[in-house]
Amino acid sequence: MNIAVFCSGNGTNLEAIINSQKKGSIKADIRLVVSDTPDCFALTRAKNAGIKTLVVERKNFKTKKDFEEAILKALQKENIGLVALAGYMRILSGDFIKAYENRIINIHPALLPSFKGTQGIKDAFVYGVKVTGPTVHFVTPDMDAGPIILQSPVKVTEDDTEETLAEAVHAEEHKIYPRAIQLFVEGKLKIEGRRVRILE
Ligand code: GAR
Repeated sequence: MNIAVFCSGNGTNLEAIINSQKKGSIKADIRLVVSDTPDCFALTRAKNAGIKTLVVERKNFKTKKDFEEAILKALQKENIGLVALAGYMRILSGDFIKAYENRIINIHPALLPSFKGTQGIKDAFVYGVKVTGPTVHFVTPDMDAGPIILQSPVKVTEDDTEETLAEAVHAEEHKIYPRAIQLFVEGKLKIEGRRVRILE
């Protein structure tokens, strides 16, 4: 299966996915890294790993539809079977999601449905939760609300700052995202309404 990873930032999740693929724990081809941010470090990581990159900037298109069609065209050309959003800070339209229905997944840095949005770690920390952690989920038109594939709890300790908590959450992300991707690749994820059954 060919995978595309979408990134806007640092790309540590992309790196974890690349490493898992190299180790053989993801048995798929990371065919393309798509970004909306030309200078993001994720693109450097992709290039260092010899993965094809594609920058598609919203500002170069008149409409969101044209912008997304340019991405879809590239995905179709590369015969992409799974889109993994990894810090891609853009909301995909219903049309885009429909074109890849149940084949787009996302990592979010909080235990959904709590702390949706762009600041999941900070919001959880400020709220004062004692447990947080990342969620991998299918992407549906409702933001951060698709069926949940994997979650991993991270305790918030007395000594934690937002920074140390972020480190702990990211470390868990780097474990569960590759695992979720391999489960998808193996056809082991069965969506039943809101529930994702993991076939082992
Ligand atoms: C990750 O923590 C991911 O959960 C978060 O962006 C970070 C990207 O880090 N995504 C969201 O907040 C989506 N709402 P990375 O670029 O180092 O992988």
